[in-house]
Amino acid sequence: MPRATTHHVCSACGHESAKWHGRCPGCEEWGTLVEEAKPVPQAASARAGGGGGRGRALTPVPLSQVEAPRVARLRTGIGELDRVLGGGLVPGSLVLLGGSPGIGKSTIVTSALGNVVAGGGSALYVSGEESAAQVRLRAERLGPSVLAVPIVAETDLDAVVATIEAERPDVCVVDSVQVLHAAGLTGAPGSVGQVREVAGRLMRVAKTCGIAIVLVGHVTKEGALAGPRVLEHLVDCVLSFEGERERTYRTLRALKNRFGSTNEAGVFEMRDEGLVEVEDASARFVAEATPRAPGSAILCSMEGSRPLLVEVQALVAPTELVPPRRMANGIDRNRLALVLAVLTRHGGMAKQPALPDAHEGVLAVGSADVFVSVAGGVRIDEPGADLAIALAIASAARGVPLGSSDRPLATFGEIGLTGELRHVAHPDRRLAEAAKFGLGNVLHPGPALPDLGAALRASIDRSVGQQRAA
Ligand SMILES: Nc1ncnc2c1ncn2[C@@H]1O[C@H](COP(=O)(O)OP(=O)(O)OP(=O)(O)O)[C@@H](O)[C@H]1O
Ligand SMILES: [Mg+2]
Repeated sequence: MPRATTHHVCSACGHESAKWHGRCPGCEEWGTLVEEAKPVPQAASARAGGGGGRGRALTPVPLSQVEAPRVARLRTGIGELDRVLGGGLVPGSLVLLGGSPGIGKSTIVTSALGNVVAGGGSALYVSGEESAAQVRLRAERLGPSVLAVPIVAETDLDAVVATIEAERPDVCVVDSVQVLHAAGLTGAPGSVGQVREVAGRLMRVAKTCGIAIVLVGHVTKEGALAGPRVLEHLVDCVLSFEGERERTYRTLRALKNRFGSTNEAGVFEMRDEGLVEVEDASARFVAEATPRAPGSAILCSMEGSRPLLVEVQALVAPTELVPPRRMANGIDRNRLALVLAVLTRHGGMAKQPALPDAHEGVLAVGSADVFVSVAGGVRIDEPGADLAIALAIASAARGVPLGSSDRPLATFGEIGLTGELRHVAHPDRRLAEAAKFGLGNVLHPGPALPDLGAALRASIDRSVGQQRAA
């Protein structure tokens, strides 16, 4: 019988085992054993030295004497992508681009390679998921420059590594890391051991040949990158492509970047000719806002270091269901639950207001269906969105618009559990962005607006007063 070349190692405690077990015999954790290639045994002569010291001693050098040649970054020609990468791809780096199925990962990397080739660089597209013919059909849609991109359709890791080493392109895209198969391991492609081995080998190629390699990765249903978290440690940069497939807007974020800030985000729109950068995203969202409708507020949010105005919409509808429905699109469900709780507890929205003039259609949020959505399919992931969500819900529940005449109400701020409003980062940039679009009067935390009650009085109650006066 041939000797096994792989073994199983527990990723939690390091226990080694020849066979796979569901539960680690060492630490008794479930599902932690991962197949790995066995290390090549050292030659007996190398081990013979005394004192256990087998290696040669190295001479440490001060950092100031370390040679660090300034390598030019490689522009992908997609402004938003370059910005998220921190100015372009770094030669010799490994980038992981994750996103849910059909979000446009292959589209953006194909366009980027087309731009690199058009700019005189060399590129290679390794397609494991789609045949070369399928990629060509996409390329035709994306434009003539993309058709010049060289492609190989292969899933065998050894063949892919050999091709990259022979071709030595400036940029190589591997679509996707989960379908490549390392021959030495018995695990199925996409399994933890395989993905780790594939990424490790490709990293060595990237570093030794100075090639920027972009790995395309899938995300699981829960939204985490499929494959082990260890992949995120291995690569230099993790980009996440977010948005909903059915909607047109997608955001690209850096979750980790060894060569730049992780605060950047790019906004794209999926069109016939591929993903198009949206540089004036705020202008679009403000123009599409519905200031006269109840349940609409403009949120001055921050997408990394860039301010972005988006419309938050809410609908509060009567229901027979117990418990009532809570649906969140573009915001975290838990965030919505928290805002609703504070709204009912500290904003007086628990019961039907017992006002003498309480008109029909005033709903108690505690027992009504609540739907909240960020218009355009943008995902907002920051606490500064709380106040906009709360005001949109309150406005929908009471049936009064927040905006004055033709201007929507702009707002931002975090809501604390006791109903107080908290400061969020970069208020000046948010205010400047709102002012740019003629939204001068922004509701935000400050001495005049210490808590949610004050914010409701300044927006909803004022609108009710105006309605009554009219
Ligand atoms: N002719 C078209 N016009 C507009 N959008 C299109 C067109 N053809 C495809 N698309 C969009 O492109 C998306 C697929 O893009 P792409 O193949 O790049 O996604 P992906 O993230 O690589 O998906 P997968 O995970 O399956 O590899 C589709 O969901 C669709 O929205
Ligand atoms: Mg794809």
